[in-house]
Amino acid sequence: MPRQFFVGGNFKMNGSVDTIKGIVSHLNDAKVDSNTEVVIAPPALYLLLTREHLRSGIEVAAQNVFDKPNGAFTGEISVAQLKDSNITWTLLGHSERRVVLQESDSFVASKTKAALDGGLGVILCIGESLEQREAGKTIDVVTAQLSAVAKEVKDWSKIVIAYEPIWAIGTGKVATKEQAQEVHAAIREWLGKEVSSEAADNTRIIYGGSVSEKNCRELAQEKDIDGFLVGGASLKPAFVDIINARQ
Ligand code: G3H
Repeated sequence: MPRQFFVGGNFKMNGSVDTIKGIVSHLNDAKVDSNTEVVIAPPALYLLLTREHLRSGIEVAAQNVFDKPNGAFTGEISVAQLKDSNITWTLLGHSERRVVLQESDSFVASKTKAALDGGLGVILCIGESLEQREAGKTIDVVTAQLSAVAKEVKDWSKIVIAYEPIWAIGTGKVATKEQAQEVHAAIREWLGKEVSSEAADNTRIIYGGSVSEKNCRELAQEKDIDGFLVGGASLKPAFVDIINARQ
């Protein structure tokens, strides 16, 4: 069976009650490809508002979740609290958290396990810095990030892998389709060797980094690019064109 095209919108720390209601209303009214799975990730404060106003058929993701079930963890949100609020997905391991908040591969892996055990889908973000790419270490970096997760997780059926080269995020400098396809193919090969042939066949590997309505169609033609994780453009009406990139 072909892998279902998947488009995530990561609002990051952007938006207000008014602007998020506006984005949601635009999505509710838009003609979106029914073959695309769509998930949007507003800031934590607006998760419930988003879920309340968003039409069914589009899911909502947290941008992060903690790996402990409850208790004295000021500022954190648990998997059970997300589930209780009908939030069915979470992003994990975004490079902004790995770099700015110093999240380690093993911490991301532990949170991935907790999220999956609690019934959430996980958009697992991985990717290399410009320095690592120029040193020829891209595949080593992304497979090390994945290996940390593979130590904790056997069932990858609810993981979507988002390959996001750090140098392409928010820079307007999108990876070429060849660059993205090369890494996606290497990730799929890694899945085949280290997880299972089913995981290699079925896991969606999506690309993130300056995806726009202008470059999405070309990227979407590549055989191992199963969708996108969109930052800046997910706040704009053009997000719908990205959702419809395969039409
Ligand atoms: O999570 C999304 C990525 O960080 C991409 O962000 O589309 O603004 O480059 P961007």
